Amino acid sequence: MRQTLVAGNWKLNGSLDSIKQLVSGILAGIGDTGDTAVAVCPPFVYIPLVSELLQGSKVALGSQDVSDQDSGAFTGEVSGPMLKEFGCRYAIVGHSERRALYAEDDEFTARKFAAARRAGLTPILCVGETLEEREQGITEDVVARQLDAVIELEGIGAIGDAVIAYEPVWAIGTGKTASPQQAQDVHAFIRGKLAGLDGGVAEKVQILYGGSVKGSNAAELFAMEDIDGGLIGGASLVADDFLAICRAG
Ligand code: PGA
Repeated sequence: MRQTLVAGNWKLNGSLDSIKQLVSGILAGIGDTGDTAVAVCPPFVYIPLVSELLQGSKVALGSQDVSDQDSGAFTGEVSGPMLKEFGCRYAIVGHSERRALYAEDDEFTARKFAAARRAGLTPILCVGETLEEREQGITEDVVARQLDAVIELEGIGAIGDAVIAYEPVWAIGTGKTASPQQAQDVHAFIRGKLAGLDGGVAEKVQILYGGSVKGSNAAELFAMEDIDGGLIGGASLVADDFLAICRAG
């Protein structure tokens, strides 16, 4: 059995005050989230603060991105070893906002995935199609291409130590969730593709769904056979909403 993981992606949101409040709200209710593994991914500058606030709790810490480089003359970058030093366990790589707004392509994403692993971080690799790609009927091709870039660089074994997040771009921040069956179909495709390369990896890897997950739709999404939790944007910014999703796990 794969453990359910619910990870909050706070994106470019928060302030010292609001983040302290959000974390204390999450910690106040985390006791009744059962076996669900929980993580939060604050903006880089708040990672030391959140790391301290989470001490001794079951909530793990992640970053929203990671440099493909470990150190050196790379102005503005934050490396895997730095994130590790501040207690991060996860690093999101290849989020669709990075791909679309900052022109991060499949190969660059694969190098970030490799950098996260080098530092001992668990990459949360985001994949997913745009609305246009879905309408063209090429969802599976797009997701396969995004996965293949990582598998070519790092090997199939590396996927076994990672988390995959299927996030249809048309469902992110739009209030339009993929139906549980639509999501399950792509999750099953991903797991099937991995199984063609390594059955053990396919069985083990957690595949999260992301895109307008809320307390009201989380349980039916997480009940699908190949959906092992969620990557949550908007709803992770309100402690009660986030906790409701964690409890659905
Ligand atoms: P959303 O974002 O939950 O606000 O749709 C999900 C994500 O981008 O990870």
